[in-house]
Amino acid sequence: MKKIMNATLNIKDVGKVVTLYGWVAKKRNLGGLIFLDLRDRSGIIQLVVQPDCSVYSIAESLKNEYVIEVTGKIVERESKNEMLSTGEIEVEVSSLNLLNEASELPFSISDDTTALEDTRLKYRYLDIRRNPIKEKLIQRHQLMMLIRKYLDSQDFIEVETPVLCKSTPEGARDYLVPSRVNPGKFYALPQSPQLFKQLLMVGLMERYFQIAKCFRDEDLRADRQPEFTQVDLEMSFVSEEDIMSMTEGLLSYIFKNMKGIELSLPLMKMKYDDAIANYGSDKPDLRFDMKIEDISAIFKNTEVSFIQDSLAHEGIINCIVVKNAAERYSRKEIDKCTDFVKQLGATGLIYLKYEEELTGSIVKNLNEEEKNSLVCTLGLEKNDLIFAVVGEYEKVKTVLGALRCKIARDLNLILENDYKLLWVVDFPTFEYSEEEGRYVACHHPFTSPKDSDVDKLLTDKKHCYSKAYDIVINGYEAGGGSIRIHDSKVQQKMFEALELTPEDIEEKFGFFVDALKYGTPPHGGLALGLDRLTMLLTGTENIRDVIAFPKTASASDLMSECPNVVSKKQLDELHIQVKK
Ligand code: AMO
Repeated sequence: MKKIMNATLNIKDVGKVVTLYGWVAKKRNLGGLIFLDLRDRSGIIQLVVQPDCSVYSIAESLKNEYVIEVTGKIVERESKNEMLSTGEIEVEVSSLNLLNEASELPFSISDDTTALEDTRLKYRYLDIRRNPIKEKLIQRHQLMMLIRKYLDSQDFIEVETPVLCKSTPEGARDYLVPSRVNPGKFYALPQSPQLFKQLLMVGLMERYFQIAKCFRDEDLRADRQPEFTQVDLEMSFVSEEDIMSMTEGLLSYIFKNMKGIELSLPLMKMKYDDAIANYGSDKPDLRFDMKIEDISAIFKNTEVSFIQDSLAHEGIINCIVVKNAAERYSRKEIDKCTDFVKQLGATGLIYLKYEEELTGSIVKNLNEEEKNSLVCTLGLEKNDLIFAVVGEYEKVKTVLGALRCKIARDLNLILENDYKLLWVVDFPTFEYSEEEGRYVACHHPFTSPKDSDVDKLLTDKKHCYSKAYDIVINGYEAGGGSIRIHDSKVQQKMFEALELTPEDIEEKFGFFVDALKYGTPPHGGLALGLDRLTMLLTGTENIRDVIAFPKTASASDLMSECPNVVSKKQLDELHIQVKK
């Protein structure tokens, strides 16, 4: 068995004879001396083979990625490499065994490879040899270990729940699995272990967690995979505050151990309505400022007809102020921003620059009072730039929220290794789905409404708020949860509010409503997205970087070429026919 990892060796080991195993990362032949970089999981160590060494010819025949076993004495290097932890030493090879050859690689194993991501995913096992991926997988492991250690110390029990189960409504489409022994019937893969963890509370587990695989058939984005991992928690006899402070304890343990960062607790809390009003997002990135300002009042008597028109029809005009950026934004840059907001559904983008005076798209139609008011209300200073959007409330907020983030990136306003965590609380219970033509659950249908809003479930859905909370880190929704409904009558009412028929309720959730009748403790929980948390801690914006074998945007695995067709025999056994 291999006993020594390369990177554990250093100058203190000079004189020792060691046997090492790994991959040839590089070979150089310098005037007869052969230098080899030996790579293993821990890192690189330099090997040197003298011309008179008995294994010289084997060394000469080595190529990149050949797998070898070497024995030799550790000596101090003449020219040291400060970039390597083993850079002060090298191994003077006395014996060398070729364990396996390697074909020519489709791309070289280097940190800054230019290989396309599709090629890297096709040969993911090679991609994993590269430091940027390997290190993220190692950090993901460390994160999982910390989570397990912390939650165990807080008296949580890890319980596994089924993967073949009944649909759990988290808002996405289910992945379905046909049952061979029950013709025409299907399992669903869990979108989350939501119902099971609540049932574990009915089953007196009191504090449960699971690092759980979840499956959601939804449109993929840079922070979404069809198959992802949650750190799922549930606790009995708790309030919203209790769950938030338990999560804060866990996050602070993680940040301290993985980043050496002390979080300042308790974390800030922001109401959902305020997050939308001020940042145009329920996951505001607070690493930079640029709050959204409502300037509708300044324009109440405006001569600008399209603004007048919008304000007369319940529209608003809001803006963001980009400090000290008027000069930086040329006409071309502003046009790019206009295209950006149009793609998000805005009708256009108003810009104003404050240099010697206000200039910009609508200035000639503004009177002195309006101009002065803008300067004072927004506290404008020379060289500030204003971007404003007019229209319906939600559209204006989300468009400016997105523009705010784009500008922060364009202007490099985000510092590396800066973490801004906050809770977004008091979510609406329902949101209106244009697609479905009805109100749907904003979180999921098991989320408890605020005590004061239980009566609004059937009568005033628009103003019904929940005991739900999201943990937001640097503009990502890193997790979310809620206090659950533990009263079967309220749960029944919630299903009715979601316009489920009694037959639907019985068929989909009968077993669950039933369970709530057998002494269900008040309970609540949360799930953190493990992949997203790993992305945040390792500083990548690509979720595929933190998953060993991820799927592409079209939910396929390029390496094993799945999904794929199956044989007619398999389909027949499952009583399934594929529609042409
Ligand atoms: P929610 O749906 O908010 O809550 O999911 C919890 C967290 O999981 C992560 N996440 C994802 N990560 C990658 N790819 C995806 N497709 C994806 N979808 C979600 C996010 C998110 O915040 N049952 C509830 C939790 C609860 O109420 O306890 C739930 O699943 O980081």
